[in-house]
Amino acid sequence: MPTKIDMAKFAKFCKDMGFIYQSSEIYGGINGFWDYGPLGVELKKNIKDAWWQDMVRNPPPGPDGQEIRMVGLDCSIIMNPKVWVASGHAAGFQDPMVDCKESKKRYRADQLDVLHPAEADHSHGSDSQFKRLFAFTKGDEASYKAALKKSQQYAKQISQKLPESLPVLPLVKVIASIEQLVYVVGPDVELPGTLTEPRAFNLMFSTHAGAIESDENLAYLRPETAQGIFVNYRNVLDSTRLKLPFGIAQTGKAFRNEINPRNFTFRSREFEQMEIEFFCHPDESMKWYEYWRDLRKRWYSTLGIRSDNLKPREQGKDELAHYSIGTTDIEYMFPFSDEPQELEGVAHRGSFDLDAHAKHSGMAEKFAYFDEDRWNADAGSRTTNSFKEWMKSNPPAEQIAKYQFTPHVIEPSAGADRFTLAVLCEAYTEDKVPDAKGNEETRVVMKFHPRLAPIKAAIFPLVNKDGMPEKAMALYRSLKPHFNVFFDDKGAVGRRYRRQDEAGTPFCITIDGQTMQDDTVTIRDRDTLKQERVKIGDVKSEIEKALS
Ligand code: GAP
Repeated sequence: MPTKIDMAKFAKFCKDMGFIYQSSEIYGGINGFWDYGPLGVELKKNIKDAWWQDMVRNPPPGPDGQEIRMVGLDCSIIMNPKVWVASGHAAGFQDPMVDCKESKKRYRADQLDVLHPAEADHSHGSDSQFKRLFAFTKGDEASYKAALKKSQQYAKQISQKLPESLPVLPLVKVIASIEQLVYVVGPDVELPGTLTEPRAFNLMFSTHAGAIESDENLAYLRPETAQGIFVNYRNVLDSTRLKLPFGIAQTGKAFRNEINPRNFTFRSREFEQMEIEFFCHPDESMKWYEYWRDLRKRWYSTLGIRSDNLKPREQGKDELAHYSIGTTDIEYMFPFSDEPQELEGVAHRGSFDLDAHAKHSGMAEKFAYFDEDRWNADAGSRTTNSFKEWMKSNPPAEQIAKYQFTPHVIEPSAGADRFTLAVLCEAYTEDKVPDAKGNEETRVVMKFHPRLAPIKAAIFPLVNKDGMPEKAMALYRSLKPHFNVFFDDKGAVGRRYRRQDEAGTPFCITIDGQTMQDDTVTIRDRDTLKQERVKIGDVKSEIEKALS
């Protein structure tokens, strides 16, 4: 993996193994919501723990070899709705919008219809001749006529006869499958494939905070964790006395009423993010942008994602979100698509968010940063050490900005569920191994990086007699406080190995006859199938070695 796979088959495997279940399945499920089973919850927790450990507690040195200062936050999901006015989410995410990359026009997705000459057989993989669907604006006669004319010209070009009456379908229905979007010709262009997917359809889930459902207590489930960080920026500065540059990190749930949840957990309506807002001096922001972009890509590789499956992509100017000066999407070749898909966005947000909250909260003073270190470093070039005094001399704006400014922000924003899906896809392997009689059999093995593997080691007594179960149980109990380990004494040992291969357990430790004589055990490696004999007292350090 990831070669192309049948996602339905893969989802069934994930369910059967206890990685991921459909939410509320016994009632028919609910689109865009998922549950993690016993193995899945361990996997996702390991992912979030690895992120926190490597990015917050122990980030590598900065671009000039300096220590990086990072702290965490855990903010509420529901915040004052004014947060979403300031951030732009309240105004920007009201309607399903479709952009045309060619004409640069923007349309409400629910106001576009398409002429669909081959409605019945235009599903993906059909051999219909009509590979074009012409979009027009609902209720706009001129737009409809233009689409009709283009349909007629196209029919002529491919020597096909148009049906008597052309079926008209809403665009949102037609693009329920992404493959259909590539056939759609926007209302103001001639060629297909220039419309983007609808964005920001009812993005924020609303609720009411309090007993009465009124406009006054309307509130939203956060669509990103980032804003909790921005609104606490001054609190963190005041309570920690951190100095620039520094980062604030948060993991947590986010909610988006996606118009088209799809591809298993890839696009969900409830998901978890792992976000960092890194604050720095504007003059140094490009340096930090590059640092985070490169570091974040490397992080995925250190956790077992093959680098040829990772595709960092600098967004074009026309793709950038309203707040962004530059963004690199770290994309992954998910097996459900021919195109790489976003795992994480690393965005240069400039001072957009801090400026917005300064303006909307009316507390501009809380968002300005005075750089004491820079000020003190230049002490010899001034007659006063008081910034207030110095300001009376009317220094030029660029001089002031050197010492007092709104920090710029670099935001590496990752999805915990999306990365969990990538890890599952990357790990899934079918190979051939010898069975107990030496015949080849196909096995499914999840080749997780040991750090992410839900179970680190399984402990088996070879047989349930001669003191082996007791010895195995004692080893299990000695490892349990340190790692997630599993004890299995049921069935043939070959069968037990297979179960652990499917769960992605890197090591199987067997207590056998020799253990009873010399206190050694065999450790079987999941990937190489090699068995090594080690002292029972060394098992813990052997596992630790693989995890480090
Ligand atoms: N604060 C910036 C922000 O939220 P984003 O690109 O909208 O940026 C960041 O989201 C990451 O969150 C994405 O790269 C993806 O990993 C994850 N994500 C976003 N929408 C998602 C969805 N509907 N389902 C699963 N993960 C999602």
